[in-house]
Amino acid sequence: MCGIVAYIGPKQAYPILLKGLQRLEYRGYDSAGIALLNGGLILFKTKGKVAELEDYLKDKNLKGTIGIAHTRWATHGEPNQTNAHPHFSKSKKLAIIHNGIIENYAALKKELTKRGYTFDSDTDTEVLINLIEDIQQNENVSLEEAVRISLNQVIGAYAIVVLSQDNPDMLIAARKGSPLVIGVGEDDYFIASDATPIIEYTKNVVYLEDEEVAVVKRGEDLQIRNIKNRKKTPYIQELEWNLNELEKGGYEHFMLKEIYEQPRSVKDSMRGRLNAQSGIVSLGGIVDYEDKMLKARRIIMIACGTSWHAGLVGEYLFEDIARIPVEVEYASEFRYRNPIIDENDVVIAISQSGETADTLAAIEMARSKGATILGICNVVGSSIARATDAGTYTHAGPEIGVASTKAFTAQVTVLTLMALRLAKLKGTLPKSRFMQLLNELEALPEKITKVLDDHGITERIAEEFKAASNFLYLGRGYNFPVALEGALKLKEISYIHAEGYPAAEMKHGPIALIDENMPVVFIAPNKGIYEKVVSNIQEVKARNGKIIAIVTEGDTTVKDLADYIIEIPETEEMLVPILASVPLQKLAYYIAILRGCNVDQPRNLAKSVTVE
Ligand code: F6R
Repeated sequence: MCGIVAYIGPKQAYPILLKGLQRLEYRGYDSAGIALLNGGLILFKTKGKVAELEDYLKDKNLKGTIGIAHTRWATHGEPNQTNAHPHFSKSKKLAIIHNGIIENYAALKKELTKRGYTFDSDTDTEVLINLIEDIQQNENVSLEEAVRISLNQVIGAYAIVVLSQDNPDMLIAARKGSPLVIGVGEDDYFIASDATPIIEYTKNVVYLEDEEVAVVKRGEDLQIRNIKNRKKTPYIQELEWNLNELEKGGYEHFMLKEIYEQPRSVKDSMRGRLNAQSGIVSLGGIVDYEDKMLKARRIIMIACGTSWHAGLVGEYLFEDIARIPVEVEYASEFRYRNPIIDENDVVIAISQSGETADTLAAIEMARSKGATILGICNVVGSSIARATDAGTYTHAGPEIGVASTKAFTAQVTVLTLMALRLAKLKGTLPKSRFMQLLNELEALPEKITKVLDDHGITERIAEEFKAASNFLYLGRGYNFPVALEGALKLKEISYIHAEGYPAAEMKHGPIALIDENMPVVFIAPNKGIYEKVVSNIQEVKARNGKIIAIVTEGDTTVKDLADYIIEIPETEEMLVPILASVPLQKLAYYIAILRGCNVDQPRNLAKSVTVE
């Protein structure tokens, strides 16, 4: 979704802002813009990609050591040049960039219109900057004070940076419900909606809290107050991520790089938490909440999209080996459906970005009813990580491709560790079985490497089916969520319609779709109710469907039935989702590439969905 980057310091701001915008492209956007201050305030914006903005700026004078820049994902008003950020105030002496939504913007706009303000754009953002200007002029207060007073009148979510012609050595930044990070350099400051534009300059960052306003002055210490004017002490943290994690590292796309990173990312998500030889599984972040989880009436996992699929695998794991009842809910539904929930429930919120608006709102709702809230997040310091009572980071490293890949396998790995830990504490597994599972888990990264090295089979399958209009993905038990995830990956990056189903449900409807043009992907390892899945494969074959099957190495039964097989190494049934999702990610990737799609930034999608 929208991206923010701002700079103040001794260096030229434009190259830093442009690079920052490029780093934020992964979030998804439809227009971009920049404002610089060098005597006067200048502002440029264009519809489309950052490259188009760069092109447009080629022969412009872009001098200045302070500036703000933005990528916009349209919410109020269509994606065009006028609606793109930054926005000027009426006097053109203030400029603003904004992520989030001002819900009461219509009422504020009406009031300002009565007072003679006119608006060029359809945005809520232009209303906010004029409100700030109006307050500054009429109440004769400093800019900082005007920002604070305005934000007290605003309902909704915001991360903003304000640049002022009359204050050439100052930026004002504020947030509520939309993240904002301030990078603290040697003699400069960087402000951004996430840490990616900052990492190459400094690792020292301050995450603003909700309703905090930062006054960022050249050559001075950072000052933070909340919107009630209470002074806050900036808490400087060190970023864990490295610059090379934000580069493609020789791969054509971030998505492919991230698929191939999985042996490493799965290992990292287990690092320091699993010692198979000594039979140890421990998750330091939630150790104080283990008792609560063991005694919980039930655990409710809330998430969206791919993270919701990870939650579904979690449900199978927790119930199967730890014997704790689990429900998995779409955060967007859960938050509005008046669920029966109280202090006997433990909620686990799962989110790669840690910024998903629906998941955040569902957390607040569950908290208000007394539930304990735990988190599984990838982005350290993210809003969800901070909104939970405790949690476990996945440590998958930055995920830049919009389609989630390594974050999913890391989430499932962490859920597996949690389930094993609870099983151990609860004594629901015999020791020998427990040890066997730990050993298998530890062996996974190596097995993922083997899955990745598939001798080109996924590329050949992609070539054969690249023109298909529909795909069906079928699996049972632990592999039903994998079928859902495989279908989601394909539809979001290739725009082919794809559906995931529990294989046996096929007979209750989707079987009507099957003919010689319908590719059906089965996840059919030799585990669980394998024979039943084989029967489902036969049902598809009898109707001339094209069968692509993920099977355990050495399988001959399915091989004889399927048009194509992709082999994965033998592993425990509960660990198959981690191995089986990898070829499905590759299949989606290659099909999308052959169809000429932009896999890293698929149309209409955003990396972190910060609006509901
Ligand atoms: C799919 C995808 C999305 C996200 C969803 C939740 O590839 O990336 O479905 O999984 O938007 O995002 P997070 O995990 O950041 O809460």
